[in-house]
Amino acid sequence: MIITISHQKGGVGKSTLAFNIASELSKQSKVEIIDLDVQQTVSTYHHIRSEMGHNPLPVHIFTTPEELENYIDSIDEDIIVIVDSGGFDSSLNRFLILISDFIITPVSSEFTEILGLQKYEGILRELSEQTDSLLVTNVVLNKISPNQKRFDDVSDFIKSSCHFKLMDSILRRRVDFANSVAHGFSVYELDKSSEASKELIDLVQEIKNKVGINDKKED
Ligand SMILES: Nc1ncnc2c1ncn2[C@@H]1O[C@H](COP(=O)(O)OP(=O)(O)O)[C@@H](O)[C@H]1O
Ligand SMILES: [Mg+2]
Repeated sequence: MIITISHQKGGVGKSTLAFNIASELSKQSKVEIIDLDVQQTVSTYHHIRSEMGHNPLPVHIFTTPEELENYIDSIDEDIIVIVDSGGFDSSLNRFLILISDFIITPVSSEFTEILGLQKYEGILRELSEQTDSLLVTNVVLNKISPNQKRFDDVSDFIKSSCHFKLMDSILRRRVDFANSVAHGFSVYELDKSSEASKELIDLVQEIKNKVGINDKKED
């Protein structure tokens, strides 16, 4: 199972979500991470995690499509691979989009996000045409002001494209996302009862429902 967090725009929360979703899923499944981000943010978070004495997840970095393909061919079926695709358009990114079981694209609700989404839609359209399939990414609103109730501009645009599906879960702007990684923790590991934790759990539950991961054991 490959779940890719992908958007060619930077700063939208790909690495943050990859780290937090992977930590949450690893409570019940074997999870590994592919870090395609040139800034290697998720790798750094796991480095901090092991320095803090917590168990890091396996993080893989690939520089050639061959290395990546060999890894994909060799992994067991029960492993969930979370990919931080990095904020750029590359052949490795495109390959991963094509082989992913589920793609997630974080965006904020600012009007300028539509421009970034239009570019990303162009990549999905091109890949869909090349493969004669319909590539769809699941767009999750992230870093939304806690008081903001309406996001019509962005949500109307998302709903207008056959390449986008708007996720029900919304992640609000929460300081816990930055604070938790300083300790090598996900937001849930930092504080199980925080608003950020509840929103992360809702998002991960929605992902599990949509990809068909059953709840085996819960805390
Ligand atoms: N829901 C959120 N609330 C508050 N800060 C967030 C949230 N999601 C991401 N961030 C912050 O936004 C910045 C960019 O996030 P990052 O995951 O590095 O983006 P990307 O990988 O897309 O470039 C980081 O400082 C991160 O802590
Ligand atoms: Mg990143």
